[in-house]
Amino acid sequence: MCGIIGYVGRKSAGGILLDGLQRMEYRGYDSAGIAVLDQGTIWPLKRVGKVATLTRAYSENFRHSGTIGIGHTRWATHGGVSEQNAHPHLSNGHRFAIVHNGIVENYEKIKQFLQEHGYVFFSETDTEVLINLIDYHYKKNPAQSFIEAVRKSLRHVEGTYGIAVLSTVYPKELIVARKSSPLLIGIGERENIVASDAAAVARYTKRVIYLNDGEIASVTADNFSISTLDAGAPKAVLHELDWEIRDSELEGYPHYMLKEIFEQPTVLENAMRGRFSEDDCSTKFGGLPITLQDLRSADRILFCACGSAYHACLEGKFWIEKFARIPVDVEYASEFRYRNAPMGQHTIVFVVSQSGETIDTLAALNEAQRRGYRVLAITNTVGSTIARAAEAGIYQHAGVEMGVASTKAFTSQLTVLSMLALLIARTRDMDAIAGQQYVRALRSLPETVKEVLDLSVEMQALAQKYHHYKRFLFLGRQAMYPIALEGALKLKEVAYVDAQAYPTAEMKHGPIALVSEETVCLFIATQRTFWEKTASNIQEVRARGAKVIVIVSDDQIFDERPYDEVVRIPAAHVGIKPILSVIPLQFFAYYTGILLGCDVDRPRNLAKSVTVE
Ligand code: G6P
Repeated sequence: MCGIIGYVGRKSAGGILLDGLQRMEYRGYDSAGIAVLDQGTIWPLKRVGKVATLTRAYSENFRHSGTIGIGHTRWATHGGVSEQNAHPHLSNGHRFAIVHNGIVENYEKIKQFLQEHGYVFFSETDTEVLINLIDYHYKKNPAQSFIEAVRKSLRHVEGTYGIAVLSTVYPKELIVARKSSPLLIGIGERENIVASDAAAVARYTKRVIYLNDGEIASVTADNFSISTLDAGAPKAVLHELDWEIRDSELEGYPHYMLKEIFEQPTVLENAMRGRFSEDDCSTKFGGLPITLQDLRSADRILFCACGSAYHACLEGKFWIEKFARIPVDVEYASEFRYRNAPMGQHTIVFVVSQSGETIDTLAALNEAQRRGYRVLAITNTVGSTIARAAEAGIYQHAGVEMGVASTKAFTSQLTVLSMLALLIARTRDMDAIAGQQYVRALRSLPETVKEVLDLSVEMQALAQKYHHYKRFLFLGRQAMYPIALEGALKLKEVAYVDAQAYPTAEMKHGPIALVSEETVCLFIATQRTFWEKTASNIQEVRARGAKVIVIVSDDQIFDERPYDEVVRIPAAHVGIKPILSVIPLQFFAYYTGILLGCDVDRPRNLAKSVTVE
């Protein structure tokens, strides 16, 4: 979603703000802007479009080298995409400027109040209302501190916000605050950087403090102080970022998506490091406070997630039910939060979120906790809101994922879930030999993934051949159904083509009506067990003129002549096979998107993490 940044230090703020914006651009990006305080005046610069457009305008026209400023990349919610609606927004009289992530729900009421007090508005945004409210509270008592003026204003705000505020009256200080929208303070040497995303500060410092909901902070070059909206004094906890700056750089790749697909062997290695048991028959997770007895006595597991993370959970369900024999429910977080899902006495809830900031997933977590359940998180983002709100959890250690369409974070979620299934299975039905085989398969994963990455060229050729087709059906059974869903989602996200997924046999019950000469059917058929059945389904679509791409394992021997395309992945244990099977689909989506001229790293209308409802 929107990215916000603020800098206060001794260097010229403009370049640092732009660099931060560029690193956060993957979050949301229909417009961008900065404001720098220089010689007692706030100088804004905004542009519709990419941060690159703003950077060009900055190098051509911006001559203000002040050492304090704020910046924003916007994903429009209130008001269309225009320079006027882009952030930062200035108060009447230009005493204050703000960048804001979130939604002020009662902005109409506040706007009317401010209009009655003579304020005028130039944009359609709720944010402009907020900055004028701050100005209003300042004017009521100009002797008060900056933080006090902001604090008073926020007490009247209903909704969500992550904000950074700049002022000509308090020229050495930024005020930041959060409610349901991420914000952190990066602690540097004689400089401090605030941002909504660690990616924006990692280049300058690894030491960060995450604000909690309801907290507000004053930040200067040499200091910071955090308090709550009711002026309490919370304890600040310092975190060390585990992200490397190279994670947010292209390093020679044309796109982040391709880079991240190729990073998967290392990423999966990192997800598994130190997590196998001493006897090599099971797994262990340092961060999981749950005992083996808890796992053994669990009557149900509930997963809540959105998007790709939801697909990963469906795969987790397959593994846990197959190997550990515990019933697993998978719920869209956005649905779970509003429904009274029946749960058992010993249900363990897992929320899964790459960013750790998705508002629906956070709300599902809160709802489960409210009902008294233990909630654990699987997330890629250390210190994220979800990581901190959950009782404990498992970090994915995948590094920053910059491409909006998830690839490496998805496969690292799969890896963690497969390891979790093994852990639970070993407390229940699985014997040591089976556990050992499972561990061996997991250990082989990075090397096997490397082999699958060799399919890049083949998948590029297939994309070349089929990218102009109008409709794609992704079909898979059992463990390959979530993979079919993810393959279709990737293609929709980055190539904007109509792609749908069904369990293979279900295709006959409706979707087959869609099949024509303009359809490509991708069968993810890497399980030997179902091959004969799948082969019949393939005949059914071929008879209706569809083109067929079939993905199988090396150990499936059959006459390949009747198929348009056969893609082979290495034969593998079912605990890792789905992870291998999704990689050709990632390539297919990537190359199709490129051939159709799409911006694969920043697809239209999408945001990396959705922090508004
Ligand atoms: C957005 C992104 C998806 C992502 C989903 C969940 O919709 O565009 O790629 O899968 O959010 O994100 P999370 O960070 O919670 O895994």
